[in-house]
Amino acid sequence: MAETKIISGKDLAKKIKEDIAARVPALVEKYGRAPHLAVILVGEDPASQSYVKSKGKDAEQVGYKSTTIRLPEATTEEELLKIISDLNADSEVDGILVQLPVPKHIDEDRVIEAIARKKDVDGFHPANVAALWQKRPCVYPCTPKGVMRMLEEAGVEIEGKEAVVIGRSNIVGLPMSKMLLDKNATVTIAHSRTRNLAEVTRRADILVAAVGRLRMVTADMVAPGAVVIDVGVNRDPETGKLAGDVDYDAVVEKASVITPVPGGVGPMTRACLMENTLECYLEAMKKNNKED
Ligand code: GUN
Repeated sequence: MAETKIISGKDLAKKIKEDIAARVPALVEKYGRAPHLAVILVGEDPASQSYVKSKGKDAEQVGYKSTTIRLPEATTEEELLKIISDLNADSEVDGILVQLPVPKHIDEDRVIEAIARKKDVDGFHPANVAALWQKRPCVYPCTPKGVMRMLEEAGVEIEGKEAVVIGRSNIVGLPMSKMLLDKNATVTIAHSRTRNLAEVTRRADILVAAVGRLRMVTADMVAPGAVVIDVGVNRDPETGKLAGDVDYDAVVEKASVITPVPGGVGPMTRACLMENTLECYLEAMKKNNKED
């Protein structure tokens, strides 16, 4: 069998960010200010803290204005909603992201709905979700958007293929399935109640693992020559290192295309957040110009 292609999300993300960075000075010149991303973190979850820090760093790297609002765990829902409402009203903020999960005493759905749709860089607002499922213009959620870009980069044909997505979350599994469907894949969504999971996953030409369980996709679950995309980010309790949902060392021998963890989907999610911020900014600037 031909050698397995390993898609470096890290390299592709770097290229995407460089392309954006190259565009920003002309945009500042034209519209008078850079795109502005506001990220809110409630609480002290270490993984979330690290994600939020990276998002701020990315934004600065591409030349955006970046605001990070860190709030204590005890922040009330009302306090958070007020901050979101102020950011919604601020014409110099283009993108708002509340890092999930929020503490248990805060209603996540209310928070997501509070973000102005036109500033919803995550694509999680119900209006954006509806638009995605009705094939209308929308903000695509960053992780599945990043996966689609990786498939494209690797030259993976999607039309007519069997795609199996393991996981049915709002953030990854569901939008991922719809985006593959829109490229004319035959899509199966597998989950924790799926019977004979290995039988289902072995049908996949394209297998996307988005479960959050360390190395749960073993080599016997993968068809020879399959394209395997690993969305999982788990900490291996033995080594303390990050590893995916796919047993990489075994599956790399069997797949035709695979993504590593770390350095795979993760950096692409972040690059797509920068793209989404740019899209929201451009939409806002177009509207402003029309009103002039
Ligand atoms: N938590 C895990 N993934 C995400 C994401 O893509 N966006 C937000 N806001 N929170 C997350």
